[in-house]
Amino acid sequence: MTNKFYVTTPIYYVNDKPHIGSTYTTVAADALARAHRLRGVPTLFLTGTDENSQKNVEAAQKAKAADLQTYLDDMAAIWQKTWKTLGISFDDFIRTTEERHLKAVKRFWRAVEKSSDIYKDSYERMYCVGCEEFKTQFEVKDGHCPLHPNKELQLVKEENYFFKASAYKDELLKLYHTHPEFVQPVSRMNEVRGYVKDAFEDFSISREAQKLSCGIPVPGDDSQRIYVWFDALINYMSAVGYGTDDKLFNKWWPASLHLVGKDIIKFHCALWPAMIMSAAKSDPLLQNENGTPKLPERIFAHGFFTIDGQKISKSLGNAIDPLDLAKEYPFDAIRYFLLREIPFGEDGDFSKTRLADRYNSDLGNTLGNLLNRAISMSRKYFDNKVPSCELQDTRIGLEGTSWAGSEGMDTLWQEVDQYIDAARLDLALETIWNGENCSLISANKYVEETRPFKLAKDNLEQTGIVLYTLLEACRQYAWMLEPIMPNIAEEIIRQLGQDPKKERKQGIKVLKTWGGLKPGSELPEPKILFPKLV
Ligand code: MSP
Repeated sequence: MTNKFYVTTPIYYVNDKPHIGSTYTTVAADALARAHRLRGVPTLFLTGTDENSQKNVEAAQKAKAADLQTYLDDMAAIWQKTWKTLGISFDDFIRTTEERHLKAVKRFWRAVEKSSDIYKDSYERMYCVGCEEFKTQFEVKDGHCPLHPNKELQLVKEENYFFKASAYKDELLKLYHTHPEFVQPVSRMNEVRGYVKDAFEDFSISREAQKLSCGIPVPGDDSQRIYVWFDALINYMSAVGYGTDDKLFNKWWPASLHLVGKDIIKFHCALWPAMIMSAAKSDPLLQNENGTPKLPERIFAHGFFTIDGQKISKSLGNAIDPLDLAKEYPFDAIRYFLLREIPFGEDGDFSKTRLADRYNSDLGNTLGNLLNRAISMSRKYFDNKVPSCELQDTRIGLEGTSWAGSEGMDTLWQEVDQYIDAARLDLALETIWNGENCSLISANKYVEETRPFKLAKDNLEQTGIVLYTLLEACRQYAWMLEPIMPNIAEEIIRQLGQDPKKERKQGIKVLKTWGGLKPGSELPEPKILFPKLV
């Protein structure tokens, strides 16, 4: 078992409120954090806001905010509140205008400077505020950034500080070779490797202060402000005490997993490790015992999704506010849909029709009905109680059914755990629903095969075995699904007559052991888990 799990989302620009795209990354990080907490692994889940950016300044002006700081405070509060309302279990929320972050950035800058990797040079290039990035001539199409065709590119001609990123090209390529898991999925690793090989150049990491109304001053040179990406990436360290608390830093750093969208892999998978490689040369806190740099363990880039086939964009006005969507569907169902519908790492489409289909079929029919039938029949034939089941192997006497027994359930757990380790929550869910061993589909099939409603007339002992199997399977599904649908999981446990908090305290090993549901315990009247929506 790993000794800790530190997972992050990108820090979001506050030029807008959260939409379903940022919710996707955040929900995935939340599910992985919950899965590790359930395993008993000390977990830190970080999210936050990226505030020293020109696009925030423009948004503040557009919103006619009293001043920039008020705008940033209000927007950061909206992001925090949205995640809280949606039950996102973040442990810390970092803002890049916080004092702890400024201290971290200062220390980091000084370390890179000490490693002789910062120099001054004059510069003339096109800057895209949409990407907060300089564009090369190859990236500009018809005088515009292809990602932001409605925004004018700005010609920037000034003297800046540069980071000698190109000096780390070979070290990066070696890292990708020796640690192929550093960037996932493989397709993104190939993309990053190609970029570093062919196009990785020194980065301009500051801008003239007089031209900007935001940004952290360059230590020792007030006339320059630190480039927003150089500043923003350091958030992953400032939140765990870099520059303020060495002990805390040693406890959590390196990050186990940075979750990002595919749009920002160059920064996370190339610039960020190069920055750490440089800073580590002069800052022992950033070194492993053997002197190598303490790099994040893994970066997983998920795909982007469209809405009903269209790019999410302000001008189309199709961005979905997660809080609005949560008024139509229980948020657990939305979490399920987001994580199940799109293979993690690939692009996909968000459609309300598909959401409704999955709600009714996967959740309502396959999971909700199973629980409801198992509880209702047990109450009917066994006096409102969990039937007794002496037999450990629940297949005895019922051979020939498609139910794979408690061993099958162990296998299902192993499969789910492996997918969670690989951050493939979509596959974990696919296996729980459709896998070969004790999936929800096979549990439903087992009901059809054994027909407990008929069996009860002839053989109550066997009926008890079938129903106990179904109830206990539902208990196990609840814990498997807890990271993805935490409220539904608790509700299932309660409907089985148990206290979810007490059960959880027993630890994952006990939770996974077949037979946790006590025969003879009371079964309350079942409630519909996924009511039909009007
Ligand atoms: N501030 C930078 C990140 C700095 S991290 C050191 C940034 N912010 S952002 O507000 O633009 O958020 C980008 C992230 O939001 C993407 O990487 C992705 O995780 C998520 N998404 C935004 N739109 C999305 C979709 N349409 N689909 C999926 N994810 C989306 O970049």
